[in-house]
Amino acid sequence: AEPGWTETTDVVVVGSGIAGLTAALYLREQGLHVTVVTKVNIDDGSTRWAQGGIAGVLDPLDTPQAHAYDTEIAGVGLCDPAAVRVLVEEGPARIRELIRRGAEFDRNPDGSLMLTREGGHRADRIVHAGGDATGAEVQRALHEAVRRDPWIRLVEHALVLDLLRAADGRACGVTLHVLGEGSEDGVGAVLARAVVLATGGMGQIFSSTTNPSVSTGDGVALALRAGAEVTDVEFVQFHPTSFVSAGVTSVQRPLISEALRGEGAYLVDEAGERFMLGQHEQAELAPRDVVAKGIYRVLRATGADHVYLDARHLGKEFLEGRFPTIMASTRSAGVDPATDLIPVAPAAHYASGGVRTDLHGRTSIDGLYACGEVACTGVHGANRLASNSLLEGLVFARRIADDIARELPPRAEPVRTAATGSWAVDPAIRAELQRVMTRGAGVLRSADSLATAAKELTRLAEQRSRPNNAAWEVTNLLTVATTLVASASSRRETRGCHWREDHPTAADEWRGHLLNALAPDGAH
Ligand code: SIN
Repeated sequence: AEPGWTETTDVVVVGSGIAGLTAALYLREQGLHVTVVTKVNIDDGSTRWAQGGIAGVLDPLDTPQAHAYDTEIAGVGLCDPAAVRVLVEEGPARIRELIRRGAEFDRNPDGSLMLTREGGHRADRIVHAGGDATGAEVQRALHEAVRRDPWIRLVEHALVLDLLRAADGRACGVTLHVLGEGSEDGVGAVLARAVVLATGGMGQIFSSTTNPSVSTGDGVALALRAGAEVTDVEFVQFHPTSFVSAGVTSVQRPLISEALRGEGAYLVDEAGERFMLGQHEQAELAPRDVVAKGIYRVLRATGADHVYLDARHLGKEFLEGRFPTIMASTRSAGVDPATDLIPVAPAAHYASGGVRTDLHGRTSIDGLYACGEVACTGVHGANRLASNSLLEGLVFARRIADDIARELPPRAEPVRTAATGSWAVDPAIRAELQRVMTRGAGVLRSADSLATAAKELTRLAEQRSRPNNAAWEVTNLLTVATTLVASASSRRETRGCHWREDHPTAADEWRGHLLNALAPDGAH
């Protein structure tokens, strides 16, 4: 679609979670004008739902090397050690800056930050807020900081469509659809000297996920259409413990934080057995993929749709003080963790792969940066370590702002307009696409299940509709789902959160990254 209106800024940031808002604030410290565009409302993304916290070496007895070690063990050979070093070494300073911006984390009686532990960590290094409402507090603080700055223009209800490029190929803006604005179909453009993608994840390609409904892989789909390097999309992490209840029917499932296991809750099967004992030295606190697999094996063996988390021994008072969000969401569905077992099952949680970047958040397209879940900086490898994602957003947002300020290119006119064509996929296929992906490319995959998923996605792609927001969103879901299935079919091994029934072990020949691209026909 041709843009019907344009506006101009220094940097356009697409997305308004921790990565986007932090990037905007650091860019402002560099004196740049920033426009933040976001698909629905500023705080509708995943950040607000984060429970556990932010990992960072803040205990004098902990070390960045130990944090790096745990991160790389979780990543099963695919982490980029240089990126991990940046993450763990710069993380604590970025957390302190977030505190200076107004985020209030839980503290011990002596005023020091209260630190907890989650799966895969061998030290207490996770800061949290409001008990288990860390993301809500982070989003609140960043939102207020952004609102205080008159030089950050915020455009809500703006779905990004495509990247604009200058004659020399540089990114120089994005096209977007803003509800109720501009030309007849509302498509406009923001022109900028640099573009920061911070659109978050793609959990909505599955039929149960901890991600909100806006997590539809828009940034990865845009990058694929633009021909930017995208990598590792087969590594979607499944959180072991999402809440299962007849009362929860939405695709987004309430999260039961790993921090609950960190504080002593354990997993049991129908017979009350702690099935994670003996599977891994860290039992329930093994890396996330190990626990998700342990649960999935029980589900397969019993045909049940959940196992249980037992937190009763932690006591009502402790649970209410430390986990108010979890207590509210489970109690509203009639489950009281102080007296009842909590039914839980894995749900899609986090995309470890995404738009490939270097250590400054630069993608393979000049002027295009990626930050947060949409990016693949190399810190997560085949399986992200708990509470490293908010941290990654903070650390790389700062690096991106510094890089843009250092390199700030002159303004350029776009020569290529949107690749989004005159058709899109019928939004009515959304639920079926999610079922196809859960069946064929979910926690456990095989050549056969992936081939079936690929065939069904091709069939769904044929159902077209006039372009509009819902259709563009589902087109993005289909683009990333198709890319994921292709990538998961190619990777004939089991590594991290990519579990192949037909190739059950990790193989050295696969210790590398697969580049993901759209099929040559340009569509899917
Ligand atoms: C959780 O609280 O269990 C989620 C933490 C994370 O995804 O890093």
